[in-house]
Amino acid sequence: MTDEGDRLAELAKRRGFFIQSSGAYGGVAGFYTYGPQGAALKDNVEAAWRDRYVTREGHMEIDAPTVMPEAVFEASSHLETFTDMLVECAECGDSHRADHLVEDDPDSEVEDAEALPNEEVGELIAEYDIDCPTCGAALAEEPVTDFNLMFETNIGPGSSSPGYLRPETAQGIFVDFPQWAEYARNQLPFGVAQIGKAYRNEISPRKSIIRVREFTQAELEHFIDPDEDEPPLERVEDVVIPLYSATEQQADDGGVREMTVREAVDEGVLGSDWIAYYLGLSKRWYERIGVDMDRFRYRQHLSGELSHYASECWDAEGELGGDWVELTGFATRGSYDLDKHAEHSGEEFSVFKQYDEPVTVERPTVDPEMSYLGPEFGGAAGDIVDELESLAGRDPDAFEGDTVTVDVDGESHDIPVEKTGFAVEEVTESGEHVTPHIIEPSFGVGRLVYTVLAHSYREDEVDGEARTRLAMPPEVAPTTVGVFPLMDKDGLGERARELASELREAGLEVTYDDSGAIGRRYRRQDEVGTPFCVTVDYETLEEKTVTVRERDSTEQTRVPVSEVTETLQALRDGEKQFADLE
Ligand code: GAP
Repeated sequence: MTDEGDRLAELAKRRGFFIQSSGAYGGVAGFYTYGPQGAALKDNVEAAWRDRYVTREGHMEIDAPTVMPEAVFEASSHLETFTDMLVECAECGDSHRADHLVEDDPDSEVEDAEALPNEEVGELIAEYDIDCPTCGAALAEEPVTDFNLMFETNIGPGSSSPGYLRPETAQGIFVDFPQWAEYARNQLPFGVAQIGKAYRNEISPRKSIIRVREFTQAELEHFIDPDEDEPPLERVEDVVIPLYSATEQQADDGGVREMTVREAVDEGVLGSDWIAYYLGLSKRWYERIGVDMDRFRYRQHLSGELSHYASECWDAEGELGGDWVELTGFATRGSYDLDKHAEHSGEEFSVFKQYDEPVTVERPTVDPEMSYLGPEFGGAAGDIVDELESLAGRDPDAFEGDTVTVDVDGESHDIPVEKTGFAVEEVTESGEHVTPHIIEPSFGVGRLVYTVLAHSYREDEVDGEARTRLAMPPEVAPTTVGVFPLMDKDGLGERARELASELREAGLEVTYDDSGAIGRRYRRQDEVGTPFCVTVDYETLEEKTVTVRERDSTEQTRVPVSEVTETLQALRDGEKQFADLE
């Protein structure tokens, strides 16, 4: 763990942001519990996400189960492909991510070992003489194998109905797509969002809440008509985004290029206008929740790195403790998931697109003579009919001669065209079935929480005393206001408690504190990121004013009690700045 990691882990535990779960039983790697401050911060990040990606974009939000039947993951390919590279130590039995061992080795220049085949990673382990990080035994002879990351369970008693904890919230959205399409009145584009838990049995969970086995995702699946729908690019075209493209990553002197969304599209750095839209939109959003833009970039996936479903993918990355960590993946998933669920379930995973006017089209059809095909081809006749139907649709010219050739199970069959009943009919159609393509921004909430903490962490001095503060935006801070009486006597404590409860009634997140010196109380709030503190003193009783103090500048100003609720709400919502207060 880095210095930054150690500092944050200490602060997180001491002040209630997050702790390793089940501590009484020694804790278990990859599972964390958010304490009161952390849960409030996480809630506020989720609320800001919902505000931006659901409410303001006009999408639906759903809440699906975390356990899903095996058939879902057979269809989605997770059973087959959702694996990481495992190497096990023969000496101590510990398991390690083989690709991470190669990337982390000081002699290695490999940055993306995940994109390499298992055998090659095994060879690199041998070449660099990599030893087991736990016991030091050589790993050179150990095989690198695929390890599926899904947690398996049984649905109900017995083992006849296997299920899995979902590894991404997305599948809960895809699997019930026909229903969401109905709610959207079959009108593309529409988006379905979900915030919820996902589970991955990571081989080596690490870096506190950054790589865990249970985590919260906030995912948006935007279903679009690939031939017609365009994003409202003009809304974000002037946003400057830091792009680290695949080309730059592969160039000797490549690096991050800052450009506007419009420039990135025009220069072809971004292949999809939809990805461009979401990168622009999210850049503003990351700034809003407190991600430091000097420690932030968008990195394109190299071709070997792409998930099985994606054709283009960019990760938003934050610099944490000297490493770049993926915070969000922005992927074009095409129609992969809907096609797969249609194929495996036999249901319709498309929308019916009504034309403005009915259209008359030529439709090639076949009506094969079974009295000829049956005796001639026996058991293959049924497959030959299927192939003739398919061929008529994709290549009607094949029926122009006297015979047409179809391939079934590797064997070619010549069929007289007159026995196929081939004809071209004119049909009037009122619309067509379209399988939407999917644009997916997929956020890891825990990583955002960690980044906001790491990027807002400051150490400075106030009145000659060292202080730690979290300079996070008021919108996400766990507590918005600390309310203190100058002293708990002469009615000051009573008045401060009354004020705290009035502020809470108005929907503000408030902490009341009357213990210790006032400077100590400020310091306690600074350390958990509370942006404002209100102090009730003798002037409050006489003049009906309170002091409001701002965390970062430590400036104070007096505000009439009658205006303090409204003022604090405006400061939290960014409608007013502290410097603008009289
Ligand atoms: N539906 C697409 C998907 O799940 P992903 O890149 O595998 O894509 C999306 O995951 C986000 O989930 C990541 O950008 C990351 O923030 C978060 N995430 C993934 N694995 C994680 C883990 N083991 N611990 C914490 N967060 C994780």
